[in-house]
Amino acid sequence: MAVTRTTLSTLFDCVGNTPLLDLGPFFPGAPGVGLFAKAEFLNPTGSVKDRAAVAMLRAGIKAGKLTPDKTILDATSGNTGISYATFGAALGYRVELCIPANASRERRAILQALGAVLNESDPLLSSDGAELAAEELAARHPERYFFPDQYNNPENWLAHYHHTAREIWEATGGEVSHFVSGIGSGGTFVGVSRRLKELNPGVTCVLMQPDSPFHALEGNRHLETTRKPGFYDPGLPDRVVTVTTEDAKACQLRLARTAGLFVGTSSGANVHVASEIARSLPPGSLVVTILCDSGFRYLDDSVWRGESLASPGAGNA
Ligand SMILES: Cc1ncc(COP(=O)(O)O)c(C=O)c1O
Repeated sequence: MAVTRTTLSTLFDCVGNTPLLDLGPFFPGAPGVGLFAKAEFLNPTGSVKDRAAVAMLRAGIKAGKLTPDKTILDATSGNTGISYATFGAALGYRVELCIPANASRERRAILQALGAVLNESDPLLSSDGAELAAEELAARHPERYFFPDQYNNPENWLAHYHHTAREIWEATGGEVSHFVSGIGSGGTFVGVSRRLKELNPGVTCVLMQPDSPFHALEGNRHLETTRKPGFYDPGLPDRVVTVTTEDAKACQLRLARTAGLFVGTSSGANVHVASEIARSLPPGSLVVTILCDSGFRYLDDSVWRGESLASPGAGNA
């Protein structure tokens, strides 16, 4: 069969529509309770952030703000930056990122491979420092930059409201009863929770939180001690459940070695919380959580050697 233009896909068509995996065989819950995870690490760059990045870039182009003379600039602890760098390259834009100086070697190497320019911010200020640096640069050179501002851009959470939530709803036949997710920019939690609650006000939305500011759940935010994303809605979580870095990493290792799911630490944290909840629910409940990114982003992490703890990571999104 001849390949026609209509049978060809672009990189952008590969974002989203990720499978919802059944974790029940690996993390048995209470009888009759389902546990599923959205395989966001199967997005083109290996993380959930492809959804938000593509939505923000598309909206910028549509609004005439992202023009060919502009450089894409934002703050990131790595994953959003990798998405910008990848899709920016495909669209022909330069990409410049403010990133905490202690962001992992793997993330930095990928960003450099993709040609992104990195501005390092104070590691002690975590992603708050990167945010401040990006805001300052964007304000100083508005003619030079397109600043999507992932922490305040509604396109971020809307990508999850329109797509991730709908995919979860359809894959579960509307039977999802609990949703568990952490917060980096908050796009995933806010967008999915808001839409699921509209579809069924009985859905319980559980916010996963690191147990202290000194955690190693890269990409996740400890809300009490960091700047809250502009679109964070404190009315959305029905429950907040904390997780230690040790439990998140133990679950991350278990996902790799018992389920063949090679994913990052925030995925381990989400599944740890979701599986605990699934053990306490009545039959007919269905818990959904997110596998946020790929384990390839964490190759240097001692977790894979079966050791307990690595040093605290670079922060929040
Ligand atoms: C590894 C990881 N997990 C979770 C998140 C949280 O996603 P969101 O920004 O949608 O809150 C991020 C965000 O960058 C991330 O990098």
